[in-house]
Parts: sequence; C-alpha cells; structure tokens
Amino acid sequence: MTRTKIVAGNWKLHKLYHEGIDLAEEICSSMAAGIRTRSGEIPKVVLAPPYHLLNAVAGITAGVTGVYTAAQNAAAEISGAFTGEVSAQMIASAGAGYVIIGHSERRTLFGEDDAVLSRKLVLSLEAGLIPIYCIGEVLAQRLANAHFEVVLQQLKSGVFHLEEEAVARIVIAYEPVWAIGTGHTATPDQAEEMHAFIRRCFAERYHQAVADNLTILYGGSCKPDNAAELFSQPDVDGGLIGGASLKAADFLAIVKSV
Ligand code: PGA
Repeated sequence: MTRTKIVAGNWKLHKLYHEGIDLAEEICSSMAAGIRTRSGEIPKVVLAPPYHLLNAVAGITAGVTGVYTAAQNAAAEISGAFTGEVSAQMIASAGAGYVIIGHSERRTLFGEDDAVLSRKLVLSLEAGLIPIYCIGEVLAQRLANAHFEVVLQQLKSGVFHLEEEAVARIVIAYEPVWAIGTGHTATPDQAEEMHAFIRRCFAERYHQAVADNLTILYGGSCKPDNAAELFSQPDVDGGLIGGASLKAADFLAIVKSV
C-alpha cells in the first residue's frame, strides 16, 4: 500500500511579500534540482503562505513537479457581505490547489466550531481544492485520557457527513494542540497510536480501502531532528510543519526525511 506522502509548510502569520517569494523560490529550486524521499520518490510538498502571497507562490510552484500551494483558511460562505473573508473559489482562482481547514488556532483563537468547519470543508471540495483537515486534542483532554474520544467526535461532527468519493479527496492532519509551537512533540508511539486509531475510524465509517488510501499527516513541533522517526511510523504519512517551515534548509531537511 503506497499512500501519498505529503510535507506541508504552514507559514501562519509570517513573511512579508518579498520574504515569502524568496522562501518559495528557494524551496522550489531545491525541489526542481531533484530532492527525493528516503525511498527515492519525489515527495509531495505543499506551501501554505498567508493570502497576500497566494497567487505569487502558486505561480512559483506551478512549474515544479510535486510542489503545490495551499491557503491557510477559507470562508464558510461563497460570496457576499463578509468583510475580510476569502472564499474557497477565490483561493482556487488564485492558483492554489489545497486549503488547510480547522487548524487549532482557527478553532481556539477564532471560535470556529465543527459545524462551521464542516461547511468550509464542503465548500472547499466544491471549489475543487484538496482540504487538509486538522483535528487534535488539547493537553487537558490527553491528561484525562479523553484524546481518542475527542478526535472521534471531531471526525463525526466535521468529516463523517461526507460521501465516500469526497473523503477520497481529503487529507487529515492530526495535530495534538499541546505539541503545536511548544517544542513538545508527540513521541513517535503517541503519533502512531492516534494515526492508527484515526485510520480505524475511517475504516469503520466507510470501509477499509478508504482508510488505507487516506493520507494522515502529523503536526506539532516537527523538526529536522525528529521528523524521520515520526514519519517512519506506518500510519504517519508526512507532516504539517509550522515553525520549521519558515527556513528553507529546515523545511527541506524534513521533506527529505519522509
Ligand atoms: P509547529 O506548528 O510545527 O510550529 O508546532 C504546526 C502547525 O501549527 O501546523
């Protein structure tokens, strides 16, 4: 079984226009020069800059095999009087192929709940984008041993309303919130245990082939020195990288360790 392996860089609220262009160009020129995974394949790389860079980065990644552009969020509406929002169709029209939906910062800092996120997911799929849908528990939930239940609930209310054909077009990112930006990464065993659980949930809701084909990324303090061990777990299909995606050398080192 060869699932698509992806390393995605979530730039968050970083990079002025010229800085973002430089970073995208550096990553793309290394990719074009022939970066390979440990098993010799061309890795799939997704760059998620802030909106002001979306079209320019999409232009840079367009000519490079294996490199794609993502938005970090999409509106829960198609169009209308929603000042400050950017729709999934607008994102697609700017040249991006992917969109991150439900990042924990959107959930906690911007109050996005599963109902809003499931709407964003549907609109993104309708716009032809590949959603990277983020789930994960906070520290108190893990300490209370409620992490499996929390993740299952996020899937039930956010994702499991989708038909099977739609599920074949999404990517899941498991990001334990206690690991994001904290330097406390999940251990490879903790990541594998949860990824295998998530895959089982998809097998039970849909069927085994759907689960087997689903790309599940790990996110949360993934760095060049811990990526290889995390990615070598059987159910970890790559990563969603925050801090370490802001420097080309660090990000490329993580890409190579897939
Ligand atoms: P981090 O962020 O790698 O800085 O922990 C991951 C994320 O938020 O996607």
